[in-house]
Amino acid sequence: MKVILQNAVTLDGFIATLDGDSDWAADDEEFAALFNKIGCILIGRKTYEQYKGDIFPLAGGVNYVYTHDPEKWTAEATQELRFIGGSPHEALNNIQKQGFDTVMLAGGGEINASFAQAGLIDEMILHVHPLLLGKGIQLLGPYNQPLNLEFISSQFNPKGFVQNHYKVK
Ligand SMILES: NC(=O)c1ccc[n+]([C@@H]2O[C@H](COP(=O)([O-])OP(=O)(O)OC[C@H]3O[C@@H](n4cnc5c(N)ncnc54)[C@H](OP(=O)(O)O)[C@@H]3O)[C@@H](O)[C@H]2O)c1
Repeated sequence: MKVILQNAVTLDGFIATLDGDSDWAADDEEFAALFNKIGCILIGRKTYEQYKGDIFPLAGGVNYVYTHDPEKWTAEATQELRFIGGSPHEALNNIQKQGFDTVMLAGGGEINASFAQAGLIDEMILHVHPLLLGKGIQLLGPYNQPLNLEFISSQFNPKGFVQNHYKVK
């Protein structure tokens, strides 16, 4: 099972301000394009709640929301919106059993940290925006270990950000 993390980041490595604002991100189309290609997305419960009804659930694939308490969300679940728990390994096994071989991991920081901690992120596609926040929610949240990456490609997007693609070593 392959995990590809894709997030919009600032030049100083944040995905949102401390109060959760990431309206500076200009990569909606690229976000939707990867989701459409892969067919499923995995997000943290806080990201889901923040963008519920606005961005999520994305149409045309399966939206997995990671939470410690999936039962609490049973009434809200549909074919396209599923709430899953367990360890990161168990969550991925669950997604794989439902027919996927790749999942797009799309933040926020806490879920990214959980998967980084478990050594389960295979690739990162980072859309680096021309902005420094000074403080905010970090790409890998509370994860505080080194992580070595191997460069795959870099591409300038005319909307003003740079797309950097890495493999996690
Ligand atoms: N720039 C970008 O591309 C981008 C993308 C996505 C999000 N964001 C920003 O990120 C912010 C939210 O990030 P966040 O770090 O606060 O929260 P988050 O990662 O979206 O969600 C955290 C929640 O995910 C669940 N979770 C995380 N690890 C888990 C584990 N090991 N087992 C079970 N459940 C687990 C927990 O849900 P429960 O509490 O329900 O157990 C936890 O409270 C938002 O402000 C959003 O704007 C930015």
